[in-house]
Amino acid sequence: MHIAVIGTGYVGLVSGAGMADFGMNVVCVDKDTEKIAKLRAGEIPFYEPGLNELVQKNAAAGRLSFTTDLAEAVKRALVIFICVGTPPAPDGSADLSAVKEVALSLAEIVDEYKVIVTKSTVPVGTNRWIKKLIDENKKHDVNVDIISNPEFLREGCAIEDFMRPDRVVIGGESDHAIAIIKDIYRPLYLAETPFVITDLETAEMIKYASNAFLATKISFINEVAILCDKVGADVVTVAKAMGFDPRIGSRFLNPGPGFGGSCFPKDVRALAYLGRQNDLPLYILEAVLKVNERQRGITVEKVRRMCGDLEGKVVAVLGLSFKPNTSDVRESPALDIVEALVKEGAKVRAYDPVAMEEFQRAKPELSIYYAKDPYDAADGAHCLLILTEWNEFRYLDLEKIKAAMAEPAIVDARNIYEPTRMQKLGFRYEGMGRGKFSALK
Ligand SMILES: NC(=O)c1ccc[n+]([C@@H]2O[C@H](COP(=O)([O-])OP(=O)(O)OC[C@H]3O[C@@H](n4cnc5c(N)ncnc54)[C@H](O)[C@@H]3O)[C@@H](O)[C@H]2O)c1
Repeated sequence: MHIAVIGTGYVGLVSGAGMADFGMNVVCVDKDTEKIAKLRAGEIPFYEPGLNELVQKNAAAGRLSFTTDLAEAVKRALVIFICVGTPPAPDGSADLSAVKEVALSLAEIVDEYKVIVTKSTVPVGTNRWIKKLIDENKKHDVNVDIISNPEFLREGCAIEDFMRPDRVVIGGESDHAIAIIKDIYRPLYLAETPFVITDLETAEMIKYASNAFLATKISFINEVAILCDKVGADVVTVAKAMGFDPRIGSRFLNPGPGFGGSCFPKDVRALAYLGRQNDLPLYILEAVLKVNERQRGITVEKVRRMCGDLEGKVVAVLGLSFKPNTSDVRESPALDIVEALVKEGAKVRAYDPVAMEEFQRAKPELSIYYAKDPYDAADGAHCLLILTEWNEFRYLDLEKIKAAMAEPAIVDARNIYEPTRMQKLGFRYEGMGRGKFSALK
């Protein structure tokens, strides 16, 4: 089986390498010449655990290659996966310009039957629109089938998620095309992964509803957390006890500085937009977004209350990526929070194991010091703010941190430390929703 993957970002590269590992011949295409040059030189353009090994192994076996030439990649492929970005437009809708560009290019190129699979997250109706664009603009009199196959991988454990997904969703109208895609995923079928075979619109909606639900869980617990702070309850115990109820489940009940990343914020906005477009305001989702935005401000407020006036104060920030095990800073809470701290006159000393370069690229105008390690970040700090729960931050030498700081004050926006232990060590400690133990009472 020959496959072309268009868009070699997080989804395209992981899927391409994963399918090559299943034994298929995969060509990954991207219009970013620098990215393709790097990949050809054996360099992975972003951090994702295990991806380097998977790419090298399959490239060496001759099953995985990279090109900027779409026509060349598509020529031998029976199946073409669209994995380009669908970033948010200013009005909250999904910007489908990259998808449109690909569809129009395919209309020019395709000269025999192909199955075109959309893995990018696209609003309901998009797959039907892609088919129409191709049919109306095709140069050759050929048939193509369209499949919606949304991707659910999580950055940081993307390979595991691709190789052992919770489910595979395949939406389409052609039994023949569905059978071809099922064949690609046969290794998962054999591992008894649940398959949901459905129509295009339902497949598209499954992806948005799933992400919107997870984002809702986060905003829900964040709202409970800020109330816990006010009334002196402990959200960690609240969430733990809630999670014992199997109808609720314990996952995604960790309060923090708000969700970020390239998916949750944009997908919730796009679904809310789809609601408005259909004269059906989605009140829950509008609230999820508002709560998420407020959470950034609440985190800054905690630092402000720890330090007093921020002008001239040194704030050590640990963690810049939107979650651990990724260098991705897209919509990371750190972007807004660090910016707010700097605006108020704080001197920020930031450290992240892999995301500092991307953060600097995203916010070149921010004058902050990028530290060598957490201890260097803590040097002379009046407050240490933990924004990402990297494992290496869970086991800091706290005596060394305290000795480096000007004031022993910690705002732990991910609740990775136990307040009582921190107090015993002599820190003024503030978590999220741990009002019972708050140093800010
Ligand atoms: N990142 C995730 O965790 C994740 C998970 C599930 C679904 N998704 C969805 O998958 C899609 C891709 O996300 P991503 O994070 O991989 O994006 P990304 O920005 O990392 O990668 C997209 C790639 O597409 C390339 N591209 C854009 N236009 C192109 C064109 N015309 N021809 C060839 N290449 C082109 C870009 O250069 C880029 O390398 C999005 O719709 C996203 O919502 C992402």
